[in-house]
Amino acid sequence: MNEMLETVARGMVAPGKGILAADESTGTIKKRFDKIHVESTEDNRRDYREMLFRTTEAMKNCVSGVILYDETIRQKAKDGTPLVEIMKAAGSIPGIKVDTGAKALAGPISGIEKITEGLDGLRERLSEYHALGARFAKWRAVITIADGCPTWNCVKANAHALARYAALCQEADIVPIVEPEVLMDGEHSKHDIDECYRVTEWTLRTVFRELYDARVVLEGMVLKPNMVIAGQKCPKQASAAEVAEKTLRCLKSTVPSAVPGIAFLSGGQSDEAATEHLSLMNAIGKAPWALTFSYGRALQAAALQAWGGKPDNVAAAQQAFSHRAQMNGLAALGKWDAKLEKAA
Ligand code: 13P
Repeated sequence: MNEMLETVARGMVAPGKGILAADESTGTIKKRFDKIHVESTEDNRRDYREMLFRTTEAMKNCVSGVILYDETIRQKAKDGTPLVEIMKAAGSIPGIKVDTGAKALAGPISGIEKITEGLDGLRERLSEYHALGARFAKWRAVITIADGCPTWNCVKANAHALARYAALCQEADIVPIVEPEVLMDGEHSKHDIDECYRVTEWTLRTVFRELYDARVVLEGMVLKPNMVIAGQKCPKQASAAEVAEKTLRCLKSTVPSAVPGIAFLSGGQSDEAATEHLSLMNAIGKAPWALTFSYGRALQAAALQAWGGKPDNVAAAQQAFSHRAQMNGLAALGKWDAKLEKAA
């Protein structure tokens, strides 16, 4: 067992801390910037992310690690300091997204299902990222609920790719974040919480089977799953208590206790819902792994809105980011309360 991998994995899910997913690809960050009418230039992307990483108190107290995109891990702040050094000074571990995106999966159900690419040349890229300071990585697979989906072909192919990625990471002394995301934003009206449970359970069982076959050391990885939740278009939405209870039940039945931590994605939930669900799960307690966040949208949406690309708004945007980071830090301890949102 590589002790370094285990130490990093435990650090990523340290009590009261979670991960900031700031690894939007150039295409995705453009979509986010379009919404606030900011041009997606390299400098604007740098300024935005530098602003987040310089929110020192939030970074120090609530953020264990940051997932970066290829461009960002190489970028320097306005004053010439590498962004990686800024986050390290705040006590955060740098991480890197290494998949090259979810592409259409060929086959009978074409146009809906996706397979994540990026294995070719990954060994060499991981070695470069390690030299650039990355100590963990992320690979996101997406599973869609729709008529006839997911297919076994899609679940199996994505789980297999995740396992090959994870094994390559560990070989390179990099902790893999294994992210099989059952999407919540499908069109399917029958996509209720129980359908999400069924598909999430199937996906996680398949992923851990593939991780075993690839001899991935579970102590040296972090799982990043979706919560068990109804699809956004489903008329029958579940209560927060039901989401927490079913998510925990599903994870307990599929995720070995050797895994040090589970860091959820937010997946399109509102900021507060993502926080509340996490807090409720931690309040239930008795989980064998740490349960925390690895949010993108649910940590950044308020800050992006407050920033709007204007230097004058930096303090307000940092305040917004800090607030969400603190709320989620409390949720990771099961101590969040809706009243704290109002008080802020
Ligand atoms: P969201 O929290 O916005 O779903 O993003 C997390 C992430 O990193 C998806 O890969």
